[in-house]
Amino acid sequence: MPKAILVTGCAGFIGGNFVKSFKKQFPKTAIVGIDDFSTGRRGALDKRVIFYEGSILDEVLLNRIFKKHKPEYVFHFAALPRVSYAVEHPRLTSEVNIVGTVALLEKAAEYKVKRFIYSSSSSLYGGAKKLPTKESENPPAPKSPYAIQKYAGEPFCKVFSELFGLDTVCLRYFNVFGPGQYGDSPYSTVVAAWLEAVYFPKKKIAFIEGDGNQSRDFCYVDNVVDANILAMRAKKKFNGEPFNIAHGERTMINEVKNLIEIYTRRKLKLEKRSPRAGDVRHTHADISKAGKWLGYKPKIKFEEGLKRTIQWFESRKK
Ligand SMILES: NC(=O)c1ccc[n+]([C@@H]2O[C@H](COP(=O)([O-])OP(=O)(O)OC[C@H]3O[C@@H](n4cnc5c(N)ncnc54)[C@H](O)[C@@H]3O)[C@@H](O)[C@H]2O)c1
Repeated sequence: MPKAILVTGCAGFIGGNFVKSFKKQFPKTAIVGIDDFSTGRRGALDKRVIFYEGSILDEVLLNRIFKKHKPEYVFHFAALPRVSYAVEHPRLTSEVNIVGTVALLEKAAEYKVKRFIYSSSSSLYGGAKKLPTKESENPPAPKSPYAIQKYAGEPFCKVFSELFGLDTVCLRYFNVFGPGQYGDSPYSTVVAAWLEAVYFPKKKIAFIEGDGNQSRDFCYVDNVVDANILAMRAKKKFNGEPFNIAHGERTMINEVKNLIEIYTRRKLKLEKRSPRAGDVRHTHADISKAGKWLGYKPKIKFEEGLKRTIQWFESRKK
């Protein structure tokens, strides 16, 4: 059991869920967190985190954190996510998503962290040719600033392993959803945005792009959290190895709508929009590599994950 870990982006959707699960499994480990609330929320911050408010770009702050707490593992969730936001702000997002990652790798190498666990993204495939997508058959072909930024972290992880002996691992998440993911921003992803529109219709108008027959490999957040903990626990070194982390099954967007209407017993009104330029038609991951190396198996299926997410939206209404 580690004495201390560092969680970047601990007030965000995945980081917030990670902290709760990690604390349950390792109650004695000190969880040190950093977040600047650029997309995270104060309400998502677990009180048990030794928290530093500030940016991963702040070198003085990073020095202070590493020197004081000497984390054994770094879980790097902090980022400015969302593809369209990065199209509008390519420079700012590159600073946080690329330079911020390198800044943390530098400190992790200096302080001899045991393993650096990087949150990568399936967006780096840029619309994989082969489905289900295997890491080995689909070389990264990023097609947006965000995809380039998330991809850039991967060779940096590998090179830090080679040059400085810092063990690193890259987890490529596919379409994560679950409690703690708000749907109120223009950049929200489909499950959160649609549930927001069902439960808070005055604040949110939902839309559907194209015919709805496109599909996604939706991964419930607890599966992503499990993958991070498995990556920490693994005995062998990864040296920057990438792994798909997904459900391993795909669901059509129209089916998401049906299920939401059945489970919530409410009608989901959707404004029709034309298909998004450059949108990928289907995503579907082959997760056998993560199964073999990490022992990863998604425990929560899409339908169960959707029900739990709906419960969280219902609790927000109260
Ligand atoms: N949600 C998904 O579907 C998905 C898919 C693939 C990859 N990812 C990756 O997973 C990670 C977590 O994503 P999320 O969905 O929880 O996003 P999120 O926006 O909810 O969380 C990101 C957190 O990072 C914080 N942050 C941003 N810039 C920072 C900075 N300069 N310094 C300190 N903190 C900063 C934000 O305030 C936020 O709390 C990200 O790296 C993202 O790229 C997410």
